[in-house]
Amino acid sequence: MAAPPGFRLPPAAQVAWLVGDPTGFYAAGRRRFGPVFTVRFPGLPPEVCVATAELAREVFATDGGDAGGSRAGAIRREFVGPLVGEQSLLLLDREPWWRHRRLVNPSLHGRAVAGWRDRIAAIAAAEVDGWPVGVPFALRDRVERVTLEVIMRMVFGISDAARLSALRALLPELVSVGGSPALLRLPPRLRDRALGSPLLRRVRALPTTRFARLRDAVDAILYDEIARRRARPEPGATDVLSQLVAARDDRGEPLTDQEVRDELLTLLQAGHETTATALAWTFERLVRTPRVLRRLRAELAAGEGSEYLDAVVKEALRARPVVLGAPRLLDAPVRIGGYEVPAGWYLSASMPLVLSDPEAFPAPGEFRPERFLGPGADAALRSWMPFGGGHRYCAGAQLATLEMRVVITEVLRRVDLVPARPEPERPRVKNVTLAPARSTRVVARPRRDEAKER
Ligand code: HEM
Repeated sequence: MAAPPGFRLPPAAQVAWLVGDPTGFYAAGRRRFGPVFTVRFPGLPPEVCVATAELAREVFATDGGDAGGSRAGAIRREFVGPLVGEQSLLLLDREPWWRHRRLVNPSLHGRAVAGWRDRIAAIAAAEVDGWPVGVPFALRDRVERVTLEVIMRMVFGISDAARLSALRALLPELVSVGGSPALLRLPPRLRDRALGSPLLRRVRALPTTRFARLRDAVDAILYDEIARRRARPEPGATDVLSQLVAARDDRGEPLTDQEVRDELLTLLQAGHETTATALAWTFERLVRTPRVLRRLRAELAAGEGSEYLDAVVKEALRARPVVLGAPRLLDAPVRIGGYEVPAGWYLSASMPLVLSDPEAFPAPGEFRPERFLGPGADAALRSWMPFGGGHRYCAGAQLATLEMRVVITEVLRRVDLVPARPEPERPRVKNVTLAPARSTRVVARPRRDEAKER
């Protein structure tokens, strides 16, 4: 059986096409080769993309868990390894991954995060009250402050004002330097040597030097918070750090300090930019679809908004998926869609294709939350997978959708928004995510009928 077909272009040309026009690149592959095809990027194994939910489920069914099967962690090492550390859910596979996943899951469970709703609303309200009025601004940067605050307070469990203020400056820079090409392109052995050697850490020209300084400053705060929680446990505490410190595995063992620290940075890395980008896309679509915005406002004002609000969140994550794909590294060949994908290749559910499959989502280019309500909703939901699937399904999906619902509500309560320019924003590739190219530039005006909506 043959491997799936793909473009003949050299890998460097394929990556240039992807970066220049991400949705066009995948759509061209789907048109030319059908729902299973191969793309090639420099320095990586060939990647087989699948374009329907049914095939995506076959990809997720390869998930290894604690035995054989495919691996997701090994793929991410290169992109996020320096920031999140070796003991991260993102990087682990097999038994060590299971152990961590079982210990992390309860603290991010739907019921656990629902208790954070009012605090998230207060954070969002304070942020929106500081937005400029009557002049264009990038909404994405502003909502990222909210998602960062949620990570610092609810995930890291920090309440001390001086620490919060230090982390507000340190964390965005750490994430940006930790994901920069200058750092990631260094051969891993050289990078680790440079990070570990006091002498090399004095060489300012090395990208590792700035990264090490930022990482040390953040680690000092996090390790101190972990030590405090170990010394004085607070049984009722709902923050993720407290719960990770208290958690015990099947053998009654706790996570080590480094394991807790790595998981905290994992949740920062996986959770704050993604959710901010999802919110940015939601508003990018809402301000360009007045019918939907009007209905959402009306339903929120009537106090019956939650069903429609849910549908808006789902439709935003569908129409503008944040994550490009959910790839798995195959340890054994896999048969899929009439082809055989060799061991050592990547096999990936392509989010932009799965979520715009016209069979599952008629008129996929339209922003129509109604597709998730009423009789057709079940079919749409079966193909809705912006958070991936299988064992590696997003650990923060409940938190992400809660944050989206709460932030959308608080923003619409306080301001009227119009796009700074009428044309839609194009998707731009940012690491493994797709973000609005102009960061959702909008103009805000205070809401005149605010009082009526309370
Ligand atoms: C709208 C925002 C978000 C989107 C679209 C998103 C999407 C995803 C996707 C597609 C995956 C890979 C799933 C797979 O390979 O099958 C993933 C993994 C993950 N996400 Fe999210 N995510 C979001 C927010 C969050 C948040 C808020 C957190 C936590 C604070 C989080 C934590 C994680 C973790 C830890 C993983 C790795 C899970 C594992 O490998 O076991 N994510 N996410």
